Amino acid sequence: MSDLSVANSTLTKAFDVETIRRDFPILTQEINGKPLAYLDNGASAQKPVAVLDAMDRYYREMHSNVHRGAHTLGDRATAAFEGAREVVRGFLNAPSTREIIWTRGTTEAINLVANGLAPRLQAGDEILLSHMEHHANIVPWQMLAERTGAKVVPIQVTPEGELDLDSFNSLLNDRTRILAITHVSNVLGTVNPIAPLIEQAKKRGVITLIDGAQAVPHFKPDVQALGCDFYVFSAHKLFGPTGIGVLYGRAELLEEMPPYQGGGEMIERVSFERTTWNVLPYKFEAGTPAIAEAVGLAAAISYLDQLDRSAMEAAENALLARANALVATVPGMEVLGTAKHKVPVLSFKIAGLHPSDIGTLLDQQGIAIRTGHHCAMPLMDFYGVPGTARASFAFYNTLDEVEKLFTGLQKIQRLFT
Ligand code: ALA
Repeated sequence: MSDLSVANSTLTKAFDVETIRRDFPILTQEINGKPLAYLDNGASAQKPVAVLDAMDRYYREMHSNVHRGAHTLGDRATAAFEGAREVVRGFLNAPSTREIIWTRGTTEAINLVANGLAPRLQAGDEILLSHMEHHANIVPWQMLAERTGAKVVPIQVTPEGELDLDSFNSLLNDRTRILAITHVSNVLGTVNPIAPLIEQAKKRGVITLIDGAQAVPHFKPDVQALGCDFYVFSAHKLFGPTGIGVLYGRAELLEEMPPYQGGGEMIERVSFERTTWNVLPYKFEAGTPAIAEAVGLAAAISYLDQLDRSAMEAAENALLARANALVATVPGMEVLGTAKHKVPVLSFKIAGLHPSDIGTLLDQQGIAIRTGHHCAMPLMDFYGVPGTARASFAFYNTLDEVEKLFTGLQKIQRLFT
């Protein structure tokens, strides 16, 4: 029985976008009579055949529950599931699979950590976030603050959409207990300089959590090099399935934290007098997990591992550069977020047009973008806008699709303003 190709391939595919697009069947369709240009990858990315096949094969050939069965299918499912955990460990360069916890996604991972750190906090403590966080990296901390009497404090951002490092330096103090910050902004595309921030936080004994949801589709994080305590992401943005995400946590902290949910699997022994917890990582994995989804995520990582990373990054940079160069061709268009170090995300507004109208009119031309507040209302307030239109690119997008976006915007601008 071979495993589900969860082992990393040693072959590297040359980066040719037209060849790569053939791996993503959904991209070949027409929407509203026009070839689909899928530019909403920040919301959720599309899946290569390798992921679809791995999940299909898992259900056809090896599905059973994991860690339980006294039978061959149970062993196969467990091997595939735990093999997937090892692939994720390798992706993050985490020291041990004990430190890789499956969650439903980034949101659940952050909630799990916020819940687990509650015993460490007391009134007057501070939780340092940034003004560019997704609601998923704000609200769980606000809930924790409410429970403990701690306070959530936001680091300011600059008008260009970079973290204001003076603000960080002035806010990091003896009351700071937690620094929870995004690696990449989902609205602005800014890549934050998290390594030096983590280093400074660590010097003061501050616990650090990095929201990697928008980073992992573009580059591989190395949790040991970063030195963070927690790193979280969702599979569906990494070309894997929905319904599963990852929490990397330093074993020492995970050992100390109470379980998040109670139930089967997370226990060592249950009696009405006393229940004890399973070892890591199972202590945090109550109930039957998302087995096929774990297999799908591992297949996505293995798929990415065969691509030439630096060529991918160059292709993504070229998409962003072309988009930036075309902004001047749309009268009244303004980009929010012009940080020096960005992934290919373009949030914008056009004078006289509502973002949701831009989205609807682009959809009529087969172009998919996201509009609205992007679950980042504090950032919208900072820019004084109710929402933006956002095109977010992946390595399978083409320069032709960037041109189509701008031709579409020019048309909308001419007709509706
Ligand atoms: N957080 C996702 C986005 O930015 C859903 O669109």
